[in-house]
Amino acid sequence: MYLKYLTLSNFKNIEQADLDCSPVLNCFVGNNGEGKTNLLDGIYYLSMCRSKFVSSDSINIRNSEDYFLLKGKYVRMNESLDEDCASCGVKRSGRKSFKYNSKEYRKLSDHIGVVPLVFITPSDNAMITDGSEERRKFLNTLISQTDKVYLDSLLRYNNVLMNRNKHLKNSRNIPVDLSLMETMNHHLNHYGSIVYEKRREMVETLLPLFRQIYSAIANNKEEIDIAYRSDLDQNDLTTLLDRNFERDRILQYTSTGIHRDDLLLEIDGRSLKNSGSQGQQKTFIIAMKIAQFSIIKNNTGLSPILLLDDIFDKLDVERVERLISFVTGNGFGQIFLTDSNKNRLDRLLQKNSTDYKLFSVEAGNVKLIQSS
Ligand SMILES: Nc1ncnc2c1ncn2[C@@H]1O[C@H](COP(=O)(O)OP(=O)(O)OP(=O)(O)O)[C@@H](O)[C@H]1O
Ligand SMILES: [Mg+2]
Repeated sequence: MYLKYLTLSNFKNIEQADLDCSPVLNCFVGNNGEGKTNLLDGIYYLSMCRSKFVSSDSINIRNSEDYFLLKGKYVRMNESLDEDCASCGVKRSGRKSFKYNSKEYRKLSDHIGVVPLVFITPSDNAMITDGSEERRKFLNTLISQTDKVYLDSLLRYNNVLMNRNKHLKNSRNIPVDLSLMETMNHHLNHYGSIVYEKRREMVETLLPLFRQIYSAIANNKEEIDIAYRSDLDQNDLTTLLDRNFERDRILQYTSTGIHRDDLLLEIDGRSLKNSGSQGQQKTFIIAMKIAQFSIIKNNTGLSPILLLDDIFDKLDVERVERLISFVTGNGFGQIFLTDSNKNRLDRLLQKNSTDYKLFSVEAGNVKLIQSS
């Protein structure tokens, strides 16, 4: 499946853009702040029903406008080359409408995985520098796109967790309803165990692929490892919730469960955050994301759309070349990439004899300037 036509209206700094895309490689070139990442975020929106960068929808509406509208026409790679259309409109009032083939979804989560996508951006560095939530997001984005039961269990778990925390907060004024607590613990245990098992299995599947991709990009230089850590490694969640009940009551939140899961990222036996160079950290994240790509492809049979934002930053020329020849090789689908340096893109396009389109981006205006 690939994105054939993309239309953006009033999305961030883009007043209007209509793109006829290459099925293989699309490059956006422009100076800082011109709208390259915004374009990628528009493509991300049409797959994930939200921005990669901001949680409020209306912030993405172009300043002083009332709405934004995104439309994507996708070609399915079946024999008849059927076209599917996704559209997302958001009004200042907060009203959001997401349609696929003109039909509005009952729940937005039903769309996740329909147009699979992997986004590699400099902000992924938060997976290394920030708290465990960023690493859980990586697992969630990966598994949700291939497994409806996972996404459903996770959403239900989060919902019960929110209610349990509310109840614990209120317990300062009203005594804890023990039978309600027991019911909530039961649900947390049920949905939490499903999420735990699926995360554990996914990290096992991911690790060999990740190592193989890392060594292809880094040319076999470093020893790398990813380990999944969860409170549930030691005990089932019912036992943990019972054991920690008094503590939760004092803290007024749920202090144990899969909402505290983490991934340990290591390079040469040490923490990636403390010991990895910037280029090694970037290679690590890219390899995690490309492994994510391979797993989604293996599990769904669809090649995700790959968004590569500022991919050249911090990587040496050799790593960039190995990465690009890797992702433009067999088995990959459509790629969108951004760069602020046109000469560098020209060199890359000369080296790779793939179908491509090169667009310039200037103050939110997008123009086709070159194609194969
Ligand atoms: N809602 C909005 N309305 C108007 N402009 C916006 C809105 N949201 C973001 N912008 C503008 O979009 C610009 C950022 O665009 P973007 O991040 O796509 O730049 P870029 O081309 O990727 O730059 P860089 O090379 O630095 O990464 C900023 O100038 C910002 O002010
Ligand atoms: Mg950018």
